[in-house]
Amino acid sequence: MSEYLLEMKDVSKAFPGVQALNHAQLQLKSGHVHALMGENGAGKSTLMKCMFGIYRMDEGQIFMDGRPVVIKDPIDALSKGISMVHQELQQVPARSIGENIYLGRYPVKKLFGFIPMVDHKKMYADADRVLKKVKLPYDSTKAVGILSTSQMQLVEIAKAVSAGCRVLILDEPTSSLTESEVETLFDIINDLKKDGVAIVYISHKMEEILKISDEVTVMRDGHYIGTWDAKTLTTGDIITKMVGRELTRLYPERENVPGEVVFEVEDFTSINPKSFRHVSFSVRKGEILGISGLVGAQRTELMEGLFGIREHSSGKIKLYGKELKVSCPKDAIDHGVAMLTENRRVSGIMGALSVSDNISISSLKNYLDYGIAINSEKVEKLVAEDVEKMKIKTPSGETPIQTLSGGNQQKVIIGRWLANSPDVLILDEPTRGIDVGAKYEIYCIIAELAKQGKSILMISSEMGEILGMSDRIMVMCDGRCTGILDGKDATQEKIMALATQFE
Ligand SMILES: Nc1ncnc2c1ncn2[C@@H]1O[C@H](COP(=O)(O)OP(=O)(O)OP(=O)(O)O)[C@@H](O)[C@H]1O
Ligand SMILES: [Mg+2]
Repeated sequence: MSEYLLEMKDVSKAFPGVQALNHAQLQLKSGHVHALMGENGAGKSTLMKCMFGIYRMDEGQIFMDGRPVVIKDPIDALSKGISMVHQELQQVPARSIGENIYLGRYPVKKLFGFIPMVDHKKMYADADRVLKKVKLPYDSTKAVGILSTSQMQLVEIAKAVSAGCRVLILDEPTSSLTESEVETLFDIINDLKKDGVAIVYISHKMEEILKISDEVTVMRDGHYIGTWDAKTLTTGDIITKMVGRELTRLYPERENVPGEVVFEVEDFTSINPKSFRHVSFSVRKGEILGISGLVGAQRTELMEGLFGIREHSSGKIKLYGKELKVSCPKDAIDHGVAMLTENRRVSGIMGALSVSDNISISSLKNYLDYGIAINSEKVEKLVAEDVEKMKIKTPSGETPIQTLSGGNQQKVIIGRWLANSPDVLILDEPTRGIDVGAKYEIYCIIAELAKQGKSILMISSEMGEILGMSDRIMVMCDGRCTGILDGKDATQEKIMALATQFE
């Protein structure tokens, strides 16, 4: 018997213009969590898609229990006991939770003993059991579309677990989970470990990796760098191996002093009594206002209210002292307010369009000659700048955005909003899914925008990011603003105290 439940050896895979995998390898042990790490575009998802039978490898072999196997397609992978939770959510929002869990493999019953029919009763009963296992108190007959991103992600995990797998691939499973949901996921993972499941865990969150994993494999530019016992590594070690050099700074130096008040919010209250209420704050020219709080504090909802995506019942928004009526995003955009949304995959990218179109689409009016013809030279310049500044890994500007790695798609969307050069920029979790090296690039861009005099509102669930970047920090709890701290004397403890100030 092999020491490894599953082994990938010498795997290579090329796409037009990119060698995504170059003799990569991976060895998974039963009952172990194996972290797969690397910068955006390193080839992590591609390697997993080869294991799951989505891509055919150009070269390489897969062994299970020491015997060579060929994995033809995802159905074949599932039948061999391999399950995968994708980085990109792939659900059918209008269908029920139960149907989504069993999509493509509905339980079948025979009517009159011979006509095959979907056994809905069994499907929903099984689905309810799966949901219970992952501690989700939902009715499986409800449409998936009513769930939040994080809940949808948990349902995807429930779905993978329900397949009764031996190998479970989790590609950035926690990118949108709340802290308590992450705890639930870790409980599930620990149960699966006891059952001898081998888990591949892909994440850009270092603390998580060190907490949950037994081994760590690092990849760089499609190459295998090495595998280590997680206990022997520090965050710094992993970063150095991923980036190939030592990263000394996590946040850029900021010296600009905020100026006049640009954006004011007074007594802003949602039409939904459970959402944001009586929120007042202001943001100055060149200021970064961090917005902190536990998940569920209604931070995103508040920002969506200010941007005209959600309705408010009372309160005022003022821009340069003049009242700004916002009833739809266009009102906000027309007055120079932009928002980078939390759930970029659903509301952000236009998959079939090129990287270039995705960057320039919201700012094309700035690139028109005589107001009509698109000046493609200007667009090209903008795109080239973005690609260079944010180190977007793409064969060219013409590449369809959906073929980029998850993190590189995020960068394109950030580039789009920056191209619009708004006065007020709302960023909701701007570095979610972005690797450590690229995070620094994005922080530098945000700091640079502040220096240019933009007012920035930045929601972040990463304490380090909030403390490292903000001039002031507004903390929310349960729809209310519970305090605004000065960045200089804010601490994690002070923020947490305000974030848990329930009524
Ligand atoms: N279907 C595809 N067509 C063309 N290129 C692709 C395709 N899938 C991936 N690539 C390219 O292969 C490389 C590796 O991408 P991959 O998605 O594996 O990265 P990753 O390590 O998962 O990154 P991230 O952390 O950003 O998710 C990238 O350069 C990407 O653009
Ligand atoms: Mg990926």
